Amino acid sequence: MRLNSPQINIITKACRRASRSLIRDFGEIENLQVSSKGPGDFVTSADKRTEKIIIEELLKAHPEYGIISEEAGVINKSNINNRWIIDPIDGTTNFLNGVPQFAISIGYEEDNEIKCGVIYDPIKDEMFLAEKGNGAYLNNSRIRVSNKKRLKDSLLVTGGPKHSSKIKESVFSEFINVSNKVLFPIRKFGSAALDIAYVACGRFDGYWQREINYWDIAAGIIILKEAGGYIDFFEHDNQVPLKKNILASNSIIHEELRDLIIKKNIE
Ligand code: IPD
Ligand code: CA
Ligand code: CA
Repeated sequence: MRLNSPQINIITKACRRASRSLIRDFGEIENLQVSSKGPGDFVTSADKRTEKIIIEELLKAHPEYGIISEEAGVINKSNINNRWIIDPIDGTTNFLNGVPQFAISIGYEEDNEIKCGVIYDPIKDEMFLAEKGNGAYLNNSRIRVSNKKRLKDSLLVTGGPKHSSKIKESVFSEFINVSNKVLFPIRKFGSAALDIAYVACGRFDGYWQREINYWDIAAGIIILKEAGGYIDFFEHDNQVPLKKNILASNSIIHEELRDLIIKKNIE
């Protein structure tokens, strides 16, 4: 594998270390599900434990870099040129319910551009990683997006809306609208990071979601781009910092899918 930046090495090491405690915690979930207290508080602490290990590793390597992390928020606010963007567990609802579909996601950003990133599924031991200009990999194998040519034949995945979302109805009508144009039923796997990673390696042909947070997609952005895919923050300025809409797909179906999503909202 030809990924060799110091940052990618730091991220992979942090993922490996944090995943040991994450796997142990996931093993506890089954017991907690049958207990009267339930797994809720435990998952919150598993999230924080994982995040703490990751942040410790990253700060050890670069105490001067900034950090945006889902649970801890913004650390080292003054350094916005070099930042780690962390989601310690992406797919918390899956984790909480004992479903093995979640990942650690860490991106590295320089001057507002993601330069490298890792999405690590500790249960399947699948590490998706990429570095600007050097390609995207799944473990040691180079990955590429699919070459599916017709939207109609594409396998798509989406996520949301959250319980608190104010745009639930339009999200559902968008879903119906897109599902009428594709033969395969649309997937919903519950981890945005893995959804994008699966588009990057050609398992899915496209992923879209509204109201996504930056930490859900930071690593996915570079992995998808380096795998030859196309990313679009439709209806949002690329500079909008934390909440975004996202469409990630192979570049062949991109335009058709984008038109479908945007047109529906104009009608
Ligand atoms: C969530 C997952 C989910 C997506 C949500 C995210 P979390 O992240 O990525 O797939 O639909 O919008 O918030 O809460 O599990 O880290
Ligand atoms: Ca997330
Ligand atoms: Ca999370």
